[in-house]
This record gives sequence, structure tokens and C-alpha cells, in this order.
Amino acid sequence: MDINHASKLIREGGIVAFPTETVYGLGADAWNADAIHKVFSAKGRPSDNPLIVHVASEVEIHDFAIDTPARAHQLIEAFWPGPLTMVLKKRSEVLDAVTAGLKTVALRMPDHSIALELIKKTGPLVAPSANHSGKPSPTKADHVREDFGVDFPVLDGKTTKIGLESTVVDLTDLIPAILRPGSITRKQIEEVLNTFVEESFFHHLKAPKSPGQKYSHYKPKARVRWLNDAERTDQEHSLYLVQESSIKAEHIINYSGDLEQMAQELYDRFRQADMEGFEEVVIERMDEKHPMFTALMNRISKAIH
Ligand code: TXA
Ligand code: MG
Repeated sequence: MDINHASKLIREGGIVAFPTETVYGLGADAWNADAIHKVFSAKGRPSDNPLIVHVASEVEIHDFAIDTPARAHQLIEAFWPGPLTMVLKKRSEVLDAVTAGLKTVALRMPDHSIALELIKKTGPLVAPSANHSGKPSPTKADHVREDFGVDFPVLDGKTTKIGLESTVVDLTDLIPAILRPGSITRKQIEEVLNTFVEESFFHHLKAPKSPGQKYSHYKPKARVRWLNDAERTDQEHSLYLVQESSIKAEHIINYSGDLEQMAQELYDRFRQADMEGFEEVVIERMDEKHPMFTALMNRISKAIH
């Protein structure tokens, strides 16, 4: 599909999948409630889970957010376009379909030429990950087609660079809070803001600040578990994702500590495990000091529990 056709579909109230640097998004006009309802029904997404508004320039945030704090501008300066979503106080005009009735709105500017070109043609787009609810986020156009059918409109932008969804940071309280970890780390955000940043993405939280936290995430049909320290035997029906291990296995992918690559491939490996009928995905523990550790740990532990 070409970008002019895609923007025409969106301007007519349709939905189109497009690549970003994190995962593919399912885009709809952020000012068209009917189009946004199509996104929820295509995904099978609970209507109380709000969407991220994607913009192509900084000024556009003021159509959605009010009382934008200085901190927001500092983060934009440092990380946009890029995998950082900011939760801000919303303007009253923002559709309830976008925010699920919350008083806040989530905004981000993706770092992908196709996404930016599309948004420049259409205006701001809501875009949840372009997967059926309950499937892993798509990192390839083919993943989108797996979930929505071969004829679904998707702009093909190859494999996404990062592979995990954006970091979500809430700037509406005195203390900024990370609601979803991603490739931009708490430490990076603290350095830019020169203040303490809270982590509030633990799913045992009773009253999650981000509605998305309360939904169970994708679990492959295969059991996901950690590799045991003493484990040496090869299980034929297991897919091993390892770092340094000397384990000998038939189906083994050794990331050798390259957690960026592991993040890029993780959702594809989960889909692969289901397509190829593996009984288990066995993952070796990762280096806690690596910047991608927290985001990977968050997605993997959701697949385990
Ligand atoms: O990387 C990404 O962010 C991708 C690409 C396509 O941009 N999008 C994405 O969207 O992951 P989605 O809908 O799958 O996840 C959005 C997350 C959800 O956990 C949702 O609850 C949270 O952001 N969220 C959205 N609006 C919010 C708000 N006003 N307050 C708190 N959390 C919000
Ligand atoms: Mg999602």
C-alpha cells in the first residue's frame, strides 16, 4: 500500500497499520470518534484502555494537552522524535474514545520516516500496537497480516528497529512516574529532568495509573520459563533464548548479551514458538545493568505469569 492511499483511507475515517521505530501501530484520525471505535473493535480492545496520540511536530501537542509542564519540553528536546510517550493533562475537546474518559492524554512523536510522513498528511493519529488484543505487538508487516488478514491495509516498513513499545512517563504528578518501561530508561529521564523518577509499572499495583497495566498480556501457548543454572539437557521441543550459556540445544538462539537484538526479536520469537508448536520458550537471565534489561524483564515476566 502506498502512503497517499493510506492517508486517503484515514481521512475518510478508515484504519491503517503503519510502522514506527518501536512496533507497528494501528492508526486512525485522533479527531474521528467513529474511526477510533473501529480501532477498538478490530483489536478486540477493552474500551477503558486509552490510546496514544501520535504527532509529527511539537506544536501539535497543544491541541491535546494543557498546562504542559517545563518537564515535557525538556523531554521532547531530549527524546523526540523517539520511543517516549508522555502523559499530560488533556484539553476538554479531546475525545473520550481516545482517553477512555481519563483527564489525561498520552502523546508521542515516533522516530520513523513513514510514520511521520503519514501523520503530516493526515494530522495526529491514535495508534495502539497493530495486533489483536492478546497477541504480541507486531514488529513486521507480516505480523499485522497474521492478525488482521492478508488484505488488511498496512504500510510496509520492514522490521521495526526497537521491537518493544515506547516508554510511558506520567508528568501529571509532582513526581514523574514511568508507567511502562521501554528502551528509554528511567536513568536517562532522571538525567534530563534532574529529578527522581518513580517506577510504577509493577502489575501487583492495586490501582494502576495506566489502564493497560491491568490487562493480561500475551502468553505464547508454549510455556515461558527461565533457564535453570544447572540445566544442560537439550529439550527437543524447547526454543532457547540464551546469553552466554554453553548449553547444547537443537533450537537455540544465542544473543551473547546483545539485549537490543533480543528486544527487537522477542515478539517474533513468541509468534514463532506458537507457529512451530514449541512446548517451551526457555530464556537465560540477562545482564541487569544493560539499559534494555528493565523493559525486556517487564515483557518476559508478563509472558511467564
Ligand atoms: O510504542 C508504542 O507506544 C506503540 C506504537 C504503535 O507507538 N503503541 C502502543 O500503544 O504501544 P498501546 O495502545 O498498545 O499501548 C498504550 C499504553 C497502554 O498501556 C495504555 O494504557 C497507556 O499507554 N495509556 C494511554 N493513554 C494513557 C493515559 N492517558 N494515562 C495512562 N496511560 C495511558
Ligand atoms: Mg499494545
